Amino acid sequence: AKIKQVEFVKSSGRAKDCPKDHRPEFAILGRSNVGKSSLINSLVRKKEVALTSKKPGKTQLINHFLVNKSWYMVDLPGYGFAKTSEAARMDWSSFTKGYFLNRNSLVAVLLLVDASVPPQKIDLDCANWLGRNNIPITFVFTKCDKTKGSKGKRPDENVRDFQELIRQNYRQHPPPWIMTSSVTGLGRDELLLHMSQLRNY
Ligand code: GTP
Ligand code: MG
Repeated sequence: AKIKQVEFVKSSGRAKDCPKDHRPEFAILGRSNVGKSSLINSLVRKKEVALTSKKPGKTQLINHFLVNKSWYMVDLPGYGFAKTSEAARMDWSSFTKGYFLNRNSLVAVLLLVDASVPPQKIDLDCANWLGRNNIPITFVFTKCDKTKGSKGKRPDENVRDFQELIRQNYRQHPPPWIMTSSVTGLGRDELLLHMSQLRNY
């Protein structure tokens, strides 16, 4: 499950332009500031994998990173920016939906959810949309090292609340989930192992 090598392959403006070699891939999705770049850097054990210079809300591209010359990690535009207009949101959704609905080599979406805040509607909506479209997801809770979140709840309490809402709404079996911290490295090995297991199914 070790990551030995990572190379940036390309940025694509449309699902159609993504690499066509059918290697298995994992999409990394979540709100801006949820810790996407940090998670990728933590998995790769490098400070910069060319992802950290992105400005919040500015990423409009699908970025493919080839890992160990055998599978892809895909960085997607974040959602839920406070300053994003409704029109821009619609753009995001048609663009990203095109990717999700047409990408046969997609093994799973890693849906990043900030464990330091209470459940957010936009994350639940996103999970439900993916579920309705039969796209497999794994919840990756980020920032689990934070001792206290905004409303005074601990990360494990926020995660429990989120899981409860998912159980109520989700039409399939509740997806697997992993608690992580890119500060302490919590969940790193578990997530890598999980991804290697999914690739081999
Ligand atoms: P965009 O690029 O804007 O979409 O954000 P992002 O999802 O890539 O988030 P990024 O990795 O840039 O992290 C956002 C902020 O959260 C940074 O200040 C990070 O240092 C912090 N952060 C990310 N992961 C963790 C974590 O596991 N624990 C803590 N305490 N902070 C984190
Ligand atoms: Mg980022």
